Amino acid sequence: MSEPIVSYKDVHKSFGDVQVLKGIDLDIQPAEKVAVIGPSGSGKTTIIRMLMTLEQPTSGSIIVDGKNLWHMEKDGDLVPANEKHLRQVRGDIGMVFQHFNLFPHMTILENCMTAPIHVQKKDKESAKKDSIEMLEKVGLGDKLDDYPAMLSGGQKQRVAMARALVMHPKIMLFDEVTSALDPELVGEVLEVIRDIANEGEMAMVLVTHEMEFARDIADRILFLDNGVIAEEGPPMDVLENSTNERLQSFLHRFRT
Ligand SMILES: Nc1ncnc2c1ncn2[C@@H]1O[C@H](COP(=O)(O)OP(=O)(O)OP(=O)(O)O)[C@@H](O)[C@H]1O
Ligand SMILES: [Mg+2]
Repeated sequence: MSEPIVSYKDVHKSFGDVQVLKGIDLDIQPAEKVAVIGPSGSGKTTIIRMLMTLEQPTSGSIIVDGKNLWHMEKDGDLVPANEKHLRQVRGDIGMVFQHFNLFPHMTILENCMTAPIHVQKKDKESAKKDSIEMLEKVGLGDKLDDYPAMLSGGQKQRVAMARALVMHPKIMLFDEVTSALDPELVGEVLEVIRDIANEGEMAMVLVTHEMEFARDIADRILFLDNGVIAEEGPPMDVLENSTNERLQSFLHRFRT
């Protein structure tokens, strides 16, 4: 096996007195597709928000492509990372949120161009070219000058994906990106994710309640329960053959 692109090492996270993650150990291989399932409040979002540097672990470490995310070396010691270090390491990571988080006052082309220009310091023309290419890839090549308010939820979510992809991350994080959508719009968004997954090279972590989808595209499924990884393995093993009772009762809710 190659070096993992992401390693969580005994990661704990508390909010005040509430222990939300209780020792996460997880290696993700480059190009691996990992689906995270589990009950509400089990810590799924918190796991990926720490990787996106939106939450700081209480203890433990997260290594991204060989670099310690939340710590850096100074005079031979490990010290808390500063903003510059976080920004550098975060450059490998892209995230798509449940509620799109598009900039309402920018066209969808501008939404995609802004981070390549301001974060990656790309020149405007190449940022524009890349952004148009990504928007075409998600099926929105004819909407470049529309504003987010003019789009359907599914289209907004595809813009959010193009906006993350245009940064060429090594790891893409998806947090229940279809759960705010009307049912008839879910399919088009899952299709785009499937296309991205099939291209292969990027690692992906998907928090999802779409069990069929997880079974299809994931190399591995993690069942998070009460802040620990209670079960993990290939989709068939986790979804069909696990004897974990909490997992079975969780999955039962998705069967009709
Ligand atoms: N910023 C915060 N401040 C305080 N508590 C928080 C914060 N973020 C999350 N929590 C708590 O941490 C726990 C885990 O939250 P998290 O959002 O990671 O769960 P989840 O598995 O993503 O749930 P869901 O399926 O509902 O999205 C919850 O009890 C939540 O209330
Ligand atoms: Mg969540």
